[in-house]
Amino acid sequence: TSAAFRYKIADISLAEAGRHQLRLAENEMPGLMALRTEFGESKPLAGARIAGSLHMTVQTAVLIETLVALGAQVRWASCNIFSTQDDAAAAIAVGPTGTADAPAGVPVFAWKGETLVEYWWCTTQIFDWSDEAAAAGETWTGPNLILDDGGDATMLVHKGREFEQARAVPADSDSDSQEYGVILAALRVSLAASSDRWTGVAADLLGVTEETTTGVHRLYELAAGESLLFPAINVNDSVTKSKFDNKYGIRHSLPDGLNRATDVLIGGKVVFVAGYGDVGKGAAEALKGQGARVIVSEIDPINALQAAMDGFQVARLESVVEDVDIFVSGTGNFNVIRTEHMLRMKHLAIIANVGHFDNEIDMAALEVLAGAEKVQIKPQVDEWRLPSGRSILVLSEGRLMNLGNATGHPSFVMSNSFTNQVLAQIELYCYPEKYPVGVYVLPKYLDEKVARLHLNALGVELTVLSPEQADYLGIPVDGPYKVDHYRY
Ligand code: NAI
Repeated sequence: TSAAFRYKIADISLAEAGRHQLRLAENEMPGLMALRTEFGESKPLAGARIAGSLHMTVQTAVLIETLVALGAQVRWASCNIFSTQDDAAAAIAVGPTGTADAPAGVPVFAWKGETLVEYWWCTTQIFDWSDEAAAAGETWTGPNLILDDGGDATMLVHKGREFEQARAVPADSDSDSQEYGVILAALRVSLAASSDRWTGVAADLLGVTEETTTGVHRLYELAAGESLLFPAINVNDSVTKSKFDNKYGIRHSLPDGLNRATDVLIGGKVVFVAGYGDVGKGAAEALKGQGARVIVSEIDPINALQAAMDGFQVARLESVVEDVDIFVSGTGNFNVIRTEHMLRMKHLAIIANVGHFDNEIDMAALEVLAGAEKVQIKPQVDEWRLPSGRSILVLSEGRLMNLGNATGHPSFVMSNSFTNQVLAQIELYCYPEKYPVGVYVLPKYLDEKVARLHLNALGVELTVLSPEQADYLGIPVDGPYKVDHYRY
């Protein structure tokens, strides 16, 4: 690219359209805008070099510009091949003061419809800070913070370092997943170029802030295996993240994706929702609201009982598969909807995954199923003609369809999530002594602060504790109001 910095996006001329979207989003993201007011002058993130891997949407653009307003330097990639909004990516490359001819924004590597090879190339780009180092006359070459969604950027550093130390990248055949083979190929290229690149990157990192359930799960696994290389803040489990974004976000963006992809009437249909966690609860509520008959599946007796008490039939997929019109998966597990199920589905049944990875639907098996044929209806909507004589519709190739077929969660709910993200970045950067290597959640007073920053915009009138009442409950007037194990 011709700018003073390198970036790679679909089309820089979309920047003006993207900027209009950003302006509207800013009005719906009061938490982020309040942080700009509170910290815009003191710039607590001055000197922070943030490698971001998170869906490059309009809302993420407001997050990125907030990090920059607080003093950070940023490089960005998307965490999904279909989730980038190309106008938002263009606006971020151009920046608030640049032009399409003279971009002055953030190095961003993201476009809608990346191949897996391109995806991992983009992810490696957020770790290459040699241009910034040269400009600053510094010797570092990588970031000092990661902002991750799903854990791919974090995994790249861990795998890269592991293979460097072993002086070998394993053969592709060590894994059955095509995706893994592509990561290894990306690492092979970078390991051939330098033998201690990822070890250096890992050593410079103050930590990672992780956005989603699946990425958090990976972090706790690394910590349990004592192989976590740097501190991590679990943003997902801030109450103002998972109990809002995962639930109310999905309640909005799942039907949005279904409508844009297929426009089938949801009312009256039989819908199957796998998983009744935060995402599943939002999904089931939205579809019920549209008049669908919702059937839930769960492996956890507590969640199964919750679903039943909320009025949903709870059944195994095997028991109901022939009756279902729309399948939604939001478990974070793998191989939940398999070809044996697909072969029994109704003609033109819809498969929609909102869990983080595509292996929730066994796409790998579908792709090699004898006699199956794929016909693209439009981008991110594929008809699969099956040997059963019937077809099914698979959205976004089994990947997050609320981002692939629609534009993800709306700004207001993402303002809650991203305000947590910014506060978590500030914690890791400004108070590293508080966070030895391990996985942490933000303290409750910050969680409450995030909620507080969003009340005014909704006209919420909060009741104030009297000192006597605070005394009676044994809590401070200004919070925190609940014990840490309170479940909301
Ligand atoms: P959660 O842990 O609250 O809920 C998942 C539920 O699925 C659990 O209750 C679990 O018992 C159940 N489950 C696991 N295996 C199952 C199976 N085989 N059949 C039926 N149920 C099963 O997790 P949460 O927060 O609801 O997230 C779920 C997934 O959605 C994760 O991958 C997360 O990263 C992703 N996510 C996606 C978003 C989006 O925008 N599409 C937003 C937020 C999270």
